[in-house]
Order: sequence, then C-alpha cells, then structure tokens
Amino acid sequence: MIDIKDLCKVYIVGDEKVRALDHATLHIYPKEFVSIIGPSGSGKSTLMNIIGCLDVADAGSYHLDGLPIESYSENQLAKIRNEKIGFVFQSFNLIPKLTAEENVELPLIYQGLPRQERAQRVQEALERVGLTKRAKHLPTELSGGQQQRVAIARAIATRPKLILADEPTGALDSKTSQEIIDIFHELHDQGNTIVLITHDPNVAKQAARSIHILDGRISEVKL
Ligand SMILES: Nc1ncnc2c1ncn2[C@@H]1O[C@H](COP(=O)(O)OP(=O)(O)O)[C@@H](O)[C@H]1O
Ligand SMILES: [Mg+2]
Repeated sequence: MIDIKDLCKVYIVGDEKVRALDHATLHIYPKEFVSIIGPSGSGKSTLMNIIGCLDVADAGSYHLDGLPIESYSENQLAKIRNEKIGFVFQSFNLIPKLTAEENVELPLIYQGLPRQERAQRVQEALERVGLTKRAKHLPTELSGGQQQRVAIARAIATRPKLILADEPTGALDSKTSQEIIDIFHELHDQGNTIVLITHDPNVAKQAARSIHILDGRISEVKL
C-alpha cells in the first residue's frame, strides 16, 4: 500500500543543511498496524508529511496504492489526502468554534456528501470512539483524551484507507494514552491500515511491527 524508496529531504537553514530524510526505504502493507519510532529530530514528522501527501520529497519514489505520488501536482495531492488519508496529530487540531460533531462533519462537507449521509457518518464515527454523549460539546468543554477521540472520529469519518497518527499520545497522560491506543487497536481489528508515529517505545511496541528511524535513515525493521 505504501512503497517508499530512497526518499531524501533536505532542509536548508541559514547555511546549514539538515538531512531530514536520508535514502529512507520502507513498505507498509494493507491492513497493517505499524509504528514508526525514533527520537526527536529523527525525521518522523517529515516522513509522515510525505506519506500523508502534505509535503513532497526532494528525491526518491513514493507509491500509495500504486499511484506515483512523487509526480503529482498540489491539486492532485489534495485530492488523494481527502480521499485516502485520515490524520491525527499530537495537538488534536480541532476547530475551537465548532462542536465535536461539527468538527467531525467538516471533511465530509469538503467531500461534498449530502447532509443525511454526513449526519449518519458523524454519528457512526463518534460512536466508534465512544463520544456520542459529547457530540454537542465544544473542544474547550472536553478533556485532552476526549478531544483526541473527536480528532480520531474526524479522521475515520471519511472512511480513509490509511490512518496516519503523529505522536497522537504526546500530549496525554499514560492512562489516557492507553485508551487512545486501544481505539487504534479496534480500528485495526476493523480492517484499517494504521501508521502510528511516536518517540515512546511503550507506545511503539503495541503495533504489530515497528520501523525505526534515526537521522533520517530507516535503521531497523523489526517483525
Ligand atoms: N520546516 C523545517 N525547516 C527546517 N528544518 C526542519 C523543518 N522541519 C524539520 N526540520 C529539521 O529536520 C529534522 C527532522 O525533523 P522532524 O521530521 O520534525 O523530526 P521528528 O518528527 O522526528 O522530531 C530536524 O533536524 C528538524 O530540525
Ligand atoms: Mg515530529
């Protein structure tokens, strides 16, 4: 499903070159639950942004579902993101003025789904993360763990093939983190492909497979 070969990404800061990705090669199969683990600054978010079609590499190839992503235009990338990928971030990234259900509905509006279909999908998604009772709440009226559940509901409402989570438990205490990871386990059991990015070995080891990244290089792939 994800085929990445020799990806390179260099950031130039002043007159210094940072190799955020250095010939990274990896494969992720449909319905896998994979973690990508590495310390801060190792290139995890850079890799996630490229996998998520939010950014493009300087060199190397990336195929998603067989599509040659590296040759796509900005508009084509936006379409792929909307159709195929659900994102979950450390900082939840909810819109403060919208209720939980309105946040979940937003990507469905972008997809142009009719109102009734949207309402049904919102309800389903909130149910899957156990937040039906909080549908009318604003993000400020929810705990961190609940906000992350809303973000997960938003990510799955479009029924994406791939769920990408960048440090989804980074802002949560360990008990709440485990609840969030349990939701990812459930989504995996239901047939979703999940890529979970983390610096925390206790989080990473819960995935069926961990890919290690260090200094922009995939250093180890444990099965
Ligand atoms: N937009 C940017 N401009 C310059 N340097 C960047 C930028 N984004 C990331 N970097 C650098 O690239 C390296 C990898 O960063 P990142 O992918 O965010 O790592 P991680 O998510 O593992 O902490 C770091 O050295 C970081 O400072
Ligand atoms: Mg990061």
